[in-house]
Amino acid sequence: MSNKCDGCQHNVEGGCSSKSCIVLEKENQWSSIEKVIGIMSGKGGVGKSSVTSLLAATLAKKGYAVGILDGDITGPSIPRLFGLKGQARQSEEGLLPTVAEDGVKVMSMNLLLSEETEPVIWRGPVVSGVMKQFWTDVVWGELDYLLIDFPPGTGDVALTAMQSLPIDGIVMVTSPQGLVSMIVNKGIHMAEKMNVPVLGLVENMSYVQPPSCSEPYYLFGKGKTEEVAKELGVDFLGSIPIEQEFAELSDQGKVFEYTNENFDKIANKVIKKLKAK
Ligand SMILES: Nc1ncnc2c1ncn2[C@@H]1O[C@H](COP(=O)(O)OP(=O)(O)O)[C@@H](O)[C@H]1O
Ligand SMILES: [Mg+2]
Repeated sequence: MSNKCDGCQHNVEGGCSSKSCIVLEKENQWSSIEKVIGIMSGKGGVGKSSVTSLLAATLAKKGYAVGILDGDITGPSIPRLFGLKGQARQSEEGLLPTVAEDGVKVMSMNLLLSEETEPVIWRGPVVSGVMKQFWTDVVWGELDYLLIDFPPGTGDVALTAMQSLPIDGIVMVTSPQGLVSMIVNKGIHMAEKMNVPVLGLVENMSYVQPPSCSEPYYLFGKGKTEEVAKELGVDFLGSIPIEQEFAELSDQGKVFEYTNENFDKIANKVIKKLKAK
C-alpha cells in the first residue's frame, strides 16, 4: 500500500480494509492548484461542457488562472468550444495543456488523438485511468481554479473522479425537464456518499428570450430546478437561457466571447462558496 494510505483508519496490516476507500492521486509535481471544481450532470446533453467552458472563461476574465480537465474521455468537447486543434505537447516534466486564446489551459482526449473524429472505444477502467493521468501527468503549473468536465451521469468514471481527485466542490448542471428531480437527486446523493461538497445547481436551457417578445418563454416550465434545490437542501446558483449567439459562438470555437450577466453572478457565487470552505 502506498504512503497515500498513511493515517487512514482502514490502513490495516495486509492491505486496505475498506471497499470505498478514498485514495487521492497526487498532482503532477509541477502543478500547484488552489481549487478543483467538478462540473457534473445526471445525464448527457444538458450543457455540462458548455457550463464548464463558460465558467472557466468567466473566471479567466476576472483575472484568475484557470484550467479545464476534460474528464469526458469518450465524448470530449472542450477543445472544440475553445477552437483548439492539434496535438498536445510533451515536455520532460510531463504533458503540457494547450492554452486557449483567453488563457484557459485545456487537457482533453481530443488533444491527444491524431483526428478529432477518431472514436475512443475503451472500457471503463481504461477511461478512468486516462482521467487520473490528466491529473497526475499534466503540467498544469499554477492555477487558481481547475474545472473538471465530468463524464456524464453517475457511472464508474464519475465515481473514480470523486474518489481519486481532490475535488473542492461540485456544480450540478441540469435542464428543466420533468425528470430533473430524480436525476439531480442521484448525482447529489453520489456526491454526498463520496463526501464531496455540492456547491449548487445551475439550470441550463431555462428559457428563451426572443428579441421580438417582452417576456421570456419558459419552454419546460418555470422554477423547477429552484424547487428541487430547495427540496434537496442545496443552493440554486442561477439559470442560463437558450441563446442563438451562445450556440453560434460555441460552434465557431469562441465560447469565451459570450457574455451573460446571469453567468457572472453564478461565477461570483462559486468563488464565494469556495472561499468560505
Ligand atoms: N444555453 C444554451 N444555449 C444554446 N445552446 C446551448 C446552450 N447550452 C448548451 N447548448 C448546446 O447544446 C448542445 C449540448 O451542450 P453540451 O454542453 O455539449 O452538453 P453536455 O456536455 O451536457 O453533453 C451543444 O450543441 C451546445 O452548444
Ligand atoms: Mg459534454
